[in-house]
Amino acid sequence: MKATIVCLPGDGIGPEVVRATQSVLEAVADAFGHTFEMEDYPIGGIAIDQFQSPLPDFTLQACQNADAVLLGAVGGPQWDDPDAPLRPEQGLLKIRKELGVYANLRPVKPHPRLLHTSPLKPEKIANVDLIFVRELTSGVYFGQPKRRWMEAGEERAVDTMTYTESEVRRIAHLAFQLARQRRRKVTSIDKANVLETSRLWRKVVTEVAREYPDVTLEHLLVDAAAMYLIQRPSSFDILVTENMFGDILTDEASMLAGSMGNMPSASLGEQQNRHGRPRGLYEPIHGSAPDIAGKGMANPVGTILSAALMLRHSLGLEEEAQTLERAVEETLSLGILTPDLGGSANTEAMTRAIIEQLAPSRSPAWDQAAQTIR
Ligand code: IPM
Ligand code: MG
Repeated sequence: MKATIVCLPGDGIGPEVVRATQSVLEAVADAFGHTFEMEDYPIGGIAIDQFQSPLPDFTLQACQNADAVLLGAVGGPQWDDPDAPLRPEQGLLKIRKELGVYANLRPVKPHPRLLHTSPLKPEKIANVDLIFVRELTSGVYFGQPKRRWMEAGEERAVDTMTYTESEVRRIAHLAFQLARQRRRKVTSIDKANVLETSRLWRKVVTEVAREYPDVTLEHLLVDAAAMYLIQRPSSFDILVTENMFGDILTDEASMLAGSMGNMPSASLGEQQNRHGRPRGLYEPIHGSAPDIAGKGMANPVGTILSAALMLRHSLGLEEEAQTLERAVEETLSLGILTPDLGGSANTEAMTRAIIEQLAPSRSPAWDQAAQTIR
């Protein structure tokens, strides 16, 4: 297979984890006889500095022509001024919107070796295996009006939370279809006791559920969901929720897995690539971590596992995806861990170990792939 993968390294540790992932993808391509054309384009703070735009047009165009997009992270203290007209995060929101990737899948499954790195008791999280399905292109992140202005001698601001029936319907279907491939349980999270958007959300999800009588549906209010994620995390299978609730709860859920550094995500929509599959956007859920940027100690696993999701969903390479996921699992089992996981390996050592685990019997091609990141 020949595939074009546009890479958006972004800011902070983004470039480090994307570079690591590119060498892993090259090793996968080598082993399975594929060609992945990978090209970097600017997004975020670095794009503001160089091109006065958090998402330059040529970056957007490249993404729209790609088979899949791999993103590192955006943002950093130098672009954090709340009064700045251009912000790195605008680039991220715009690429999500333009690619129409309304469903953000965030799986959480702690690795047995890393149970102790979670602040929760190991027996609480041992059986956790859940996927958040976060709505990604609507809600309060995008609703209009959204602005700040002066009135009666003081500053005011407004954000607007909006949802349409069809926006809720399509993500509900996706959640139920995913549940059918798993333990057949969907938890829908809202704030229907207060918000009108949530009452619409609950009504539409309940309607969609009728088409999936074999799947159990549970409704939770978002505040209670925050509590149950700690109290009974292994009771969840698929959790579906609106954009901002999903943003908040997935950071909470990442603690079930010990470190945010291990968590991948896949964002999917209706646009298809030239293989007739969704042109997804793949990114780790962690941020740009400016405090450790440039030190070579970033955990590349979240991005590498995002690449595995890309192989599966955008390229249809299931065997390759599983091989890569197994290589990561084995590396973690061997105790080759970056500092955020309690180890002392650097990005390079961890990436090299993953590449070595990819090849049970080493071939010259593998050695060469491993060389490129040494
Ligand atoms: C995430 C991030 C982003 C979001 C930020 C960087 C805009 O927190 O992907 O979870 O809020 O969606
Ligand atoms: Mg977030």
